Amino acid sequence: MSSFNTVKGTHDILPENSDKWQNLEKIIHHCVSLFGYKEIRTPIIEKTDLFSRGIGENTDVISKEMYSWVDKDETALSLRPEMTASIVRSYIQHSLGYQSSLQRLYYIGPCFRRERPQKGRQRQFHQFGVEAIGSNHPEQDAEVVSLGWEILQRAGLKNLELKLSSVGSGECRNKYIDALISYLKPHKSKLSEISKQRLINNPLRILDTKIKAEIEIINSGPTIDQFYTNDDRKHFNDVQSYLKSMNIPFILDPLLVRGLDYYTHTTFEITSDDIGAQNALLGGGRYNKLIQSLGGKDTPAIGFAAGMERILLAIPDSKKIKKINNIIHIVCIEPNALGSAQILSKELRTLDLNIVLETMRRSMKAQMREANKCNADYVIIIGEEEHNQKTAQVKRLNDGTQKTIAQNKIFNHFKSLTY
Ligand code: HAM
Repeated sequence: MSSFNTVKGTHDILPENSDKWQNLEKIIHHCVSLFGYKEIRTPIIEKTDLFSRGIGENTDVISKEMYSWVDKDETALSLRPEMTASIVRSYIQHSLGYQSSLQRLYYIGPCFRRERPQKGRQRQFHQFGVEAIGSNHPEQDAEVVSLGWEILQRAGLKNLELKLSSVGSGECRNKYIDALISYLKPHKSKLSEISKQRLINNPLRILDTKIKAEIEIINSGPTIDQFYTNDDRKHFNDVQSYLKSMNIPFILDPLLVRGLDYYTHTTFEITSDDIGAQNALLGGGRYNKLIQSLGGKDTPAIGFAAGMERILLAIPDSKKIKKINNIIHIVCIEPNALGSAQILSKELRTLDLNIVLETMRRSMKAQMREANKCNADYVIIIGEEEHNQKTAQVKRLNDGTQKTIAQNKIFNHFKSLTY
């Protein structure tokens, strides 16, 4: 074995798994286009400042998890830990808001966070997500949430829970943070070291604790909904009634904490019971102040991102491989027939059939073994006799039925099966 292996927390996606990835990607591309979203691709590298200003210096993502370095020209650069800040950078840089007052964007790609690897948590992972930039209306929130829900349904996921909250406007959030600090201070001696630290740096993160004693303290404390303004409450109620009218089930979770600082108003997460501790498949929310804080015009926006590795872990086995077209192996054991086998392959591919033609000149037995291993539907066998008679044996593998067919009739034979 080579002494080079993948770096800790990163994984190769091997050919045996790439079908599943492509299948999920197809569902994503298809579903977002049904909602009118257009793809945007941004670089993996950005200036470090973009993330620290966008996501918040005191978040775990920025303070502990970024892959950052100072480049040869002294610019501080980072691998993106998420994509919302990059999309906003691109939106501002290319004046996308002038091209259309509402931009519906989506993306797929790798992100990097230096977290402790475990099941469902990698250092390089893949996200897909959407950002709808321009509308402040609750129907936009409902559209984004329902799009996330729809993709996970189409991917075949079960046992999902949609948690919904609102962190209100900035004003409401600040009042809540003050109230939370005042409430928690007298309990400080009972808090863990990390929560004591968070009380100073990022009090909302304490709500995310998994420690039972702390959960009990928090459960008796203030909740954000007590601080909503009338507008905050109306917006959130409207989002909920739209979701109800679409029959999308959700639970309200006033303690839902998103790990990034840019959120305002609606926040949400979809979790799965099927994948262990790292159960958040998809998370997002409104970020009405982010665009302005990164140098753009004051523009409302909402989006989500989902972890593709986690979704693939949660897809039930029966849904995992969705074979779309028939696979045919051409088992050619007569070297003089290789030319006609190539022509036949080219013709059959025009029917969108997956054709695998032997290029190793292996024995009939080895080629048949390979066809079975690849889950082929048919084999077309051309030996010496078939070559001389310009025929082939066409064998269906699931029931073993076999027919001799003239080579010039094979195309029509498969055409009639396909259409
Ligand atoms: P996030 O909650 O940090 O949100 O990440 C979204 C999803 O990415 C998570 O729910 C999870 O499935 C996946 N994920 C995060 N970290 C890892 C990891 N280390 N390994 C595997 N999967 C991971 C965001 O990134 C926001 N940008 C979402 C957003 C878009 N908000 C508004 N627009």
